Amino acid sequence: MPVITNIDDLKRIHRRRVPKMFYDYCESGSWSEQTFRENTSDFDKIYLRQRVAIDMANRSTKSQLIGQDVAMPVALAPVGLTGMQSADGEIKAARAAEKFGVPYCLSTMSICSIEDVAENTTKPFWMQVYTLKDDDYMTRLFDRAKAAKCSAAVITVDLQLLGQRHKDLKNGLSAPPKFTAKSIADMMTKVTWGLEMLQTKRRFFGNIVGHAHGVTDPSSLGNWTNESFDQSLNWDRIREFRKMWDGPLIIKGIIDPRDALEACNVGADAIVVSNHGGRQLDGALSSIRALEPIMDAVGDKIEVHLDSGIRSGQDVLKALALGAKGCWIGRAYVYGLGAMGEAGVTKALEVIHKELDMSMALCGHRDVRGVDRDILMVPKGFSGDWE
Ligand SMILES: Cc1cc2nc3c(=O)[nH]c(=O)nc-3n(C[C@H](O)[C@H](O)[C@H](O)COP(=O)(O)O)c2cc1C
Repeated sequence: MPVITNIDDLKRIHRRRVPKMFYDYCESGSWSEQTFRENTSDFDKIYLRQRVAIDMANRSTKSQLIGQDVAMPVALAPVGLTGMQSADGEIKAARAAEKFGVPYCLSTMSICSIEDVAENTTKPFWMQVYTLKDDDYMTRLFDRAKAAKCSAAVITVDLQLLGQRHKDLKNGLSAPPKFTAKSIADMMTKVTWGLEMLQTKRRFFGNIVGHAHGVTDPSSLGNWTNESFDQSLNWDRIREFRKMWDGPLIIKGIIDPRDALEACNVGADAIVVSNHGGRQLDGALSSIRALEPIMDAVGDKIEVHLDSGIRSGQDVLKALALGAKGCWIGRAYVYGLGAMGEAGVTKALEVIHKELDMSMALCGHRDVRGVDRDILMVPKGFSGDWE
């Protein structure tokens, strides 16, 4: 086993082991990828204030997210096609999360279905839903999540249409995928990945095929996807979804304070400040820059989480210090999954946990819940001063 010391190590192995089409799918932002890049580089512009001779023994990273106990305030974000990064990838990621004591959020566009993940795990997970037009499908999706005892629903509001990712178009990564001679040749070189894929029956969108009307096989999926995403979505429609789900609700994909206030008004329990990992509006602010103005707008009306760009425990610490109650990670755990399956997701969580714990200590704190802005040096105008 190679010595893994950081998330970048996992990313390098992921790239080697997984077909290019799926690695690229993970490692892309939309259009010029400006927002994708700045999601990570903006974290580097914030500095941590080192303190010394402060008792750092007996530390705790334990916290709560939407009232649920967590070993650290980090959740695994919903990621479509996770089951193509590693066979049965959603089940592997959910198992790693439950053993570690952090929430796992399953994507609507997952390969393993809600029922599959529920049957193969022992703790409740969160269910992400897209805001689709098909009322019947949406009602059943919420009902299926309820039957599977999901402990929260996550409505993603930043994908009324799909941001263009050049690599996916070039690689034929669509729903359903269009395999070319080149992509098939590449897949044949990823031997371990291929052998594991041959052994699983889960190779298609498990929450859609057989569940959405008219989608009985992979070939009918393309039309359904094109027609289903609701470009006329508004907050009234989101209120209708709220009525379909009576459990804890999280609204994901907020980057503007005005939208954060709207989310408070629909009765959500938490919001995720997120630009979808830089995959939607290219040129949008990085999440970490967008966080403080949103915190100022919502105050303590709602719990605020953040994702997009988290690659280390130091990043988590910075987001917490700026007011987020928790962070979600997307690519950071997918790299681990592609690199080493469930053990790789566990490794990603261990890396982030250790970095968070030690950096918190070096900033003079012993309890992650007590971390505040005082540990940071933030450049003037970092979050505001825009014309
Ligand atoms: C490959 C990939 C697929 C994703 N699929 C979904 C999805 O199905 N639903 C969703 O709400 N967000 C999806 N996201 C966004 C993530 O939930 C999360 O917001 C993002 O990954 C955070 O950025 P990070 O990857 O830099 O941590 C996806 C992100 C990636 C990288």
